Amino acid sequence: MKIAILPGDGIGTEIVAQAERVLAALDLRFETEHALVGGAAYEAHGHPLPEATLALAKAADAVLFGAVGDWKYDKLERALRPEQAILGLRKSLGLFANFRPAICYPELTAASSLKPELVGGLDILIIRELTGDIYFGQPRGRRSAPDGAFTGAEEAFDTMRYTRPEIERIAHVAFKAAQKRSKRLTSVDKANVLETFQFWKDVVTEVHAQYPDVALDHMYVDNAAMQLVRAPKKFDVVVTGNMFGDILSDEAAMLTGSIGMLPSASLDAHGKGLYEPSHGSAPDIAGRDLANPLATILSVAMMLRFTLNQPEAAARIEQAVQAVLASGLRTADIWAEGGTKVGTRQMGDAVVAALTTKKAITKS
Ligand code: IPM
Ligand code: MG
Repeated sequence: MKIAILPGDGIGTEIVAQAERVLAALDLRFETEHALVGGAAYEAHGHPLPEATLALAKAADAVLFGAVGDWKYDKLERALRPEQAILGLRKSLGLFANFRPAICYPELTAASSLKPELVGGLDILIIRELTGDIYFGQPRGRRSAPDGAFTGAEEAFDTMRYTRPEIERIAHVAFKAAQKRSKRLTSVDKANVLETFQFWKDVVTEVHAQYPDVALDHMYVDNAAMQLVRAPKKFDVVVTGNMFGDILSDEAAMLTGSIGMLPSASLDAHGKGLYEPSHGSAPDIAGRDLANPLATILSVAMMLRFTLNQPEAAARIEQAVQAVLASGLRTADIWAEGGTKVGTRQMGDAVVAALTTKKAITKS
């Protein structure tokens, strides 16, 4: 099995380095190969997703991705901006199913912006469609307005669209995920206004006929945004389109205390995946040993479970992370009174140490 490692920009390199140490501590044999992506790749090769990086990602069984982006690239033409690297990887690799779990660890309840009783024990799974919707719909661009009250004025436009097969396949993924959990699925749409999302709702409802054991409900996205902060524990599995999923997954992340804790998996139709923390490149804290590596370390656990078929190793990482949290170590983003503040590297050290101890115990 080969893992492509694409650390990217900002804190990406620091957090991926810790995740790699954790992977190495597992004593499993994987081939790894590194490549530049995002702003780092633009600096070196003039493109955020160079051919060689894309070829490596395609050839590998799994991709471990850090983060891309820096404000200094905001003025570049869109095709050269770091964000195009992750969008290009998702599209070129057909990674249509994005799993974003939002779990509130008991030790971190106090770090949430919501009352402890609302988030304690929270464990929801947002499944975001990742290769369609207004993110990729054509046509898009700028032009002179062809009609309306402002005919002839400069305008910009994007196209929101979904085909039936795109909705069907993400619906199947979501129903199957719900079957493995509490058998409840919420489909989030904007069917009251948008044609695209009336279609989404209709198709999800049709697919539901094949999963009679799952209870399906539908919710408008504005209401879902509200319910997520009103009573988040009422959700279990949520499925939605690319743009609504982008927004709701950041909202859900914050319920858990810090986006620095949340891993994600982006899967194709055959279980190949790209694994990345849900957070971005945080250029403001890059290179200062401040970033929380746990989201990336937990992304390695997802990679072991979903693509590399090593569920025991995945569970070992998750247990090690829990042990470290229980011991009171905290990076700045999850620190609260009473915790021991540590940097990126020390947090990595602690997870590696917890893994090694666990191993010693199981072996004896
Ligand atoms: C995410 C990010 C990306 C997105 C950006 C970096 C293109 O916000 O993964 O949620 O919008 O999908
Ligand atoms: Mg986002």
